[in-house]
Amino acid sequence: MHKFHIVVYGCQMNVHDSRRISDTMLEAGFVRTYEATAADILIFYTCNIREKAAHKVFSDIGLLKTKRTRIIAVGGCVAQAEQSGIFKNRDVNIVFGPHVYHKLPEYIKSIANGETDRILDVATEQSTKFNCLPVRKNVSCSEFVTIQEGCDNFCTYCVVPHTRGREFSRPALDVIREVKELVASGAKEITLVGQNVNSYHGEAPYITVGHPRGTWRLERLIMEIADLDGVRRLRYVTSHPRDFTRELMETHAKVPVLAPFVHIPVQSGNNRILKIMNRGHNVSEYLDKLKMFLDICPGVQFSSDFIVGFPTEMDSEFGDTLKLVDEVKYTTSYSFKYSRRRGTPADRMHGQVPEETKEVRLATLQQILLRDQIAHNNSLVGKINEVLFEKRGRYSNQYIGKNAYMQSVVVESQENLVGIFANVLIESASTNSVSGKIV
Ligand code: 5AD
Ligand code: SF4
Repeated sequence: MHKFHIVVYGCQMNVHDSRRISDTMLEAGFVRTYEATAADILIFYTCNIREKAAHKVFSDIGLLKTKRTRIIAVGGCVAQAEQSGIFKNRDVNIVFGPHVYHKLPEYIKSIANGETDRILDVATEQSTKFNCLPVRKNVSCSEFVTIQEGCDNFCTYCVVPHTRGREFSRPALDVIREVKELVASGAKEITLVGQNVNSYHGEAPYITVGHPRGTWRLERLIMEIADLDGVRRLRYVTSHPRDFTRELMETHAKVPVLAPFVHIPVQSGNNRILKIMNRGHNVSEYLDKLKMFLDICPGVQFSSDFIVGFPTEMDSEFGDTLKLVDEVKYTTSYSFKYSRRRGTPADRMHGQVPEETKEVRLATLQQILLRDQIAHNNSLVGKINEVLFEKRGRYSNQYIGKNAYMQSVVVESQENLVGIFANVLIESASTNSVSGKIV
């Protein structure tokens, strides 16, 4: 019994965690397969942020289980939220939260050896796993590094503070060490990830002027990482508008490898809704920050998340979100219908918005967001973009990479471009990508 298959749901943080789970399993002697039918062990790494994603795992277990399946492990945020409730599905052997995935091989072995038939571990201590993970394997040209996990903001719709726990920042030198290892193994682009990276405050070996003794803020961490040999492009995600400082904007102006593209979710364009979401900022404070950012770094582009149909949201208040979108003109975006999550304050609010209204609002919003995305892509035509090529395309000689704004760029080349930075003259644009030629 040795082949495992991982199914992952949700955000980049989860995708990243699933890679680390894979590394841990490989280190322990298991073999990865990309086909559920070939696997003895099925690992589901779940997302609890919206109801749809949380439910899908249960139908997928039924769909993917085969005669060959011996062990089923359900991990991540649904596991943390539902705990032993997951065992209602009789096929599940292991339930593990997002802070203990380094222990998965040990748990699988003890089930395989017949020591027990069920294991539940939803421990909340966040720092341990980072010290137990093996050196990264299968390093690609673009890699993620977790710098911070959890969130103390308690937006009223969000389960993250309940599943990923309170805010925890990894020590600065651990982050630096991991980046150095990745770069030595071929990574060129590093994305620093966390639920709220702006509140990073990692323990550091010496005093940073203006900050509490022995901590680095995100700005400092970025400066130090940007100085490392081999780091060609640097990003960070996700930012909270309230915690976004002028100093961070100035860091963009000072650090050339820092991509001029920032995800700053606003969620809604209406002050009353922002207030009952407990976002900690209003519309004009948000817009003022973006303006300040553009003054300091002309050309910087933004993306955002939106929630439509938050409890009690009226048509006119939704209209304010459309106005804000019209004003900012986001390069890309993610928009969602509000989804009730058990245990969150918004779930208990009166005035839940009917599903049909949410659907109409979402379609209306997405139409405008898409218009701006296409306009941005069109604006790139005739320009030269620096592109990091990540993979081959569908056709031979086709390569796909990302420009600084996270847009997919497609070119044809006789030479293998995977892992290479190249300048591309953009010749045409479509909704989700642009294409051009190497110059
Ligand atoms: N319903 C809909 N969308 C949500 N998000 C978080 N919680 C919910 C919810 N209950 C969205 C927010 C957040 C993104 C990661 O997911 O827009 O920024
Ligand atoms: Fe959730 Fe709000 Fe924290 Fe983001 S900032 S993870 S939306 S509580």
